[in-house]
Amino acid sequence: MDHPALLERIAAEVAPLVGTGTPAGYIPALAGVDPRSFGMAVATLDGTVHGVGDWRVPFSTQSITKVFTLALVLAHGGDSVWERVGREPSGNPFNSLVQLEYENGIPRNPFINAGALVVTDRLQTWTGDASSELLEFLRRESGNPDLAFDPDVAGSESDHGDRNAALAHFMASYGNISNPVPTLLDHYFWQCSITASCADLALAARFLARHGLLADGSRLLTRSEAKQVNAVMLTCGTYDAAGEFAYRVGLPGKSGVGGGIVAVVPGHGTLCVWSPGLDERGNSVAGVAALDRFTTLTGLSVF
Ligand code: DON
Repeated sequence: MDHPALLERIAAEVAPLVGTGTPAGYIPALAGVDPRSFGMAVATLDGTVHGVGDWRVPFSTQSITKVFTLALVLAHGGDSVWERVGREPSGNPFNSLVQLEYENGIPRNPFINAGALVVTDRLQTWTGDASSELLEFLRRESGNPDLAFDPDVAGSESDHGDRNAALAHFMASYGNISNPVPTLLDHYFWQCSITASCADLALAARFLARHGLLADGSRLLTRSEAKQVNAVMLTCGTYDAAGEFAYRVGLPGKSGVGGGIVAVVPGHGTLCVWSPGLDERGNSVAGVAALDRFTTLTGLSVF
């Protein structure tokens, strides 16, 4: 397949949407990003990567990191994480508190904030330094040693983190958080602050297309665990718009409020798209449209 020509075509087709939607404003450090940015990268199983537009420009990965944290926790602790977090779509906004009380402090899935806090808590218990473990993993798998935390974003998250603090304390009251809440929140905010480009993220996510195999051929996840992560991405990876995303794109995907989306074509490759303007559910407007065009033009989807 001629990926460069395909990507140019998609970029031209979605150009009218770039700059529409609204960049995340609730974290001031994210609000300053250029809303006209657009980049898209495709990585194949062997690590060949092609891109278009701003595909090498680092952006704030935000909730995309939740996929990698989940994979690391499964690699360390196997199935035990599923005693603490569910795997059903929540149908509620990503930062919602409402289900937690009547579901006894067990979040619906690992990709809403409450669930991600539980997963980061597990990684902290397994490794003693969850955010560094994650950053090292992303550096290794992307082949980019310059990936880094953004201290401004982490500070901004922390300054505006009352809702995440509320979620963490509330789950701690049910015994579903093992580490001190301030430690957990620090690691969660640092995790969200990692900056990486479309190329970096497409490369780093390849283990999900390679049925659990890392870039060096060693195994991170069993084939079954890789399938499970992809399944949870498909059903829960784009917040309360996961049904619409599955309908339009037909791939496992995970979005972040920085405007990035990673998507996986199992057995074939990975995609990452970035454009900061978000729709009302927090997904990149041009990003979803570009992935929609990709699967429509290529026929590559899990369906
Ligand atoms: O927790 C937050 O508010 C952000 N740092 C992460 C947000 C995001 O991308 C959507 N979350 N599921």
